[in-house]
Amino acid sequence: MIWNKLAKSYDNLWIQKYSLAPTRKYILDYIQKRHDTFPCKSILDVGCGTGQCLYDIENALGKSEGVQLFGIDKSAEMIKHAQEKSKRIQFMEYNIDEQEDFSSLPVLPSVQVVPSLPSVPPLPSMQLVPTLPPLPPLFDIIICAHSLPYHQDQQKTIDLLARKTHNEGRLIFVHASINNFFDKCFMAIVETTAEKANYLSIPDFRNLLPENIEIEEEFIIRPKKFMPTISGFVLKKI
Ligand SMILES: C[S@@+](CC[C@H](N)C(=O)[O-])C[C@H]1O[C@@H](n2cnc3c(N)ncnc32)[C@H](O)[C@@H]1O
Repeated sequence: MIWNKLAKSYDNLWIQKYSLAPTRKYILDYIQKRHDTFPCKSILDVGCGTGQCLYDIENALGKSEGVQLFGIDKSAEMIKHAQEKSKRIQFMEYNIDEQEDFSSLPVLPSVQVVPSLPSVPPLPSMQLVPTLPPLPPLFDIIICAHSLPYHQDQQKTIDLLARKTHNEGRLIFVHASINNFFDKCFMAIVETTAEKANYLSIPDFRNLLPENIEIEEEFIIRPKKFMPTISGFVLKKI
C-alpha cells in the first residue's frame, strides 16, 4: 500500500508546508474556539495518517482536560508512526471502506494483567483492569482531512460519520477538490504519488450530504496561489 511506503517520510513531505500544515492550523483554531464554549469530550480523526492533527490538538487542549482522542487509518505504518507521537491518543488500524459501523472497531490493548498472589487464585474477572476508556458510540468532533478522496464509497463514509456525530457535534471535512482546469492538472500529478482518488468538486461534495446535515462553515485553504483548491466544510446536524 502506498501509504505504508509514505509513512516514514510523511511528516517531511513538501505538501506539508503548502497544504497539510495550513489545514491542521485551520482545524486546530476551529476546535480551540469551539472548545471554549462547547467543551469537547471526544474527537475522532478518520484517515489520521501519522497523527499530526490529533497530536497538535492534544498539546493545544492540554492533557489534563479529559478530552478523549482517537485516530483511525487503514495504513499500519501510518498508525505505527502515529503511536510513537503519543501514548495517550488511541490510534487504530482500521479501513473504513470495509466496515458498516464502528461497532467492530478494534480497541487497542485496553487491559493489563495484574499479577496474582501466589496463595490466592484470582477470579478471572479480577485479572483484567481497564487502563483505557472504552470507545464512545458517538463523538463530539469528527475530522476527516485529506482522506475522503481515497475512500471507495464516499457517500457511505459521510453517512457513517454523520451517524457517529453527537447531535450537538461537528464534522470537519477538508480535501483537495477539482473545480477547474488548473485543479485537474495539478491533482493528476499529485495522484501519481498517492492512491487513486476522486477529488470531489465543491458542489459534488455538497450533493453527498445527508438531509439531516447542514453546512455551518465552508472555507478554502490556499496559502499559495500555485496551489489547487483545498475545500473545507464544518457540518452540523439539523
Ligand atoms: C493524505 S493522507 C492524510 C493524513 C492526515 N489526515 C493528514 O491530513 O495529513 C490520507 C490518509 O487516509 C488514509 N485512508 C485512505 N483511505 C482510507 C480508508 N478507507 N480508511 C481509513 N483510512 C484511509 C490513508 O491511509 C492515509 O494515511
